Amino acid sequence: MRTPIVAGNWKMNKTVEEARALVFAMSLKLREIEGVEKVLCPPFPALLAVSALLQGTDIGLGAQNLHWEEKGAFTGEVAPNMVAEFCQYVIIGHSERRAYFGETDGTVNKKIRAALAHDLIPIVCVGETETEYEAGQTGEVVRRQISLGFADVDPAKAAGIIVAYEPIWAIGTGKASSGENANAVLADYIRPALADLFGAETAQAIRIQYGGSVKGDNADEFFGQPEIDGALVGGASLKADDFLAIVQAASRP
Ligand code: 13P
Repeated sequence: MRTPIVAGNWKMNKTVEEARALVFAMSLKLREIEGVEKVLCPPFPALLAVSALLQGTDIGLGAQNLHWEEKGAFTGEVAPNMVAEFCQYVIIGHSERRAYFGETDGTVNKKIRAALAHDLIPIVCVGETETEYEAGQTGEVVRRQISLGFADVDPAKAAGIIVAYEPIWAIGTGKASSGENANAVLADYIRPALADLFGAETAQAIRIQYGGSVKGDNADEFFGQPEIDGALVGGASLKADDFLAIVQAASRP
C-alpha cells in the first residue's frame, strides 16, 4: 500500500506574513488528518518562517526548485544544501519552469540527482501540452520525460521519489482531467516507464500524484483511482479550507 501524499504548490504567491497567516489558519486541522502525507511548498523567502511553524508537526516542507551545483557563481540560484536546511521535499521540473525558465529533461535529471544526494525527496513533474494531448502524444511525452529525467538515478533511492502527473492543459484552467483519463496515463505510461528503469517492484512503490485543477469538490474522483496516490495542488492550496478539503478527501479509505 502506498501512503497518499498531498502537496500544496503555492507558486509565486504569499509574502512571509501571508504565508504565516495561511499556516496558522490550517495547521491544527491539517495535523488532525491521518493517513496522508502532507507537504507545503511556499516560495523561497517564506521557507524559514514556515519551517519554524511546522516544527514538531507531521507536515512536511518543500521548495519549488533548486540548482544542481553545490555552490558558487550562480546568481539567483539556490543550492541543494540550502534547500535541505529547511525542507524535506523539492518540486522539480514543473511545467511552468520548463515553459518559462528553460528547464529541460537534462536539467531535470541533474536536479533530481542533486536532490537525492542531499536526501531531499524530489517531486518530479511530467505532463503533456494541450496540443500534444490532442495529437495523441501523451504517452510518448511522459515516457520521454521519465526516461531522460530519471536517467542514472540510483535505483536504491528511486522508490522514495514522487512523480506528479500534471497535464499542462489542466493547470490553472479549471479544466481538470477526468480521474479515469489520469489513471490510464499512470497505468499505461508512467508506471511502465518507471518499471523499465527501476524494475516492477520499485515502480509499484513510487507514489504518483495527479495535478491540475484539483479542488475539494473533484478530489474524490482522483483519489478513488487505483494508480493515483495523491495530488499536487496549485490554486486550491492557497486557501485553508480548500486545501483541507482536498487532504481530507485523500485520507478517506
Ligand atoms: P492548479 O491546481 O492551480 O491547477 O495548479 C496545479 C499545479 O501546477 C500544481 O503544481
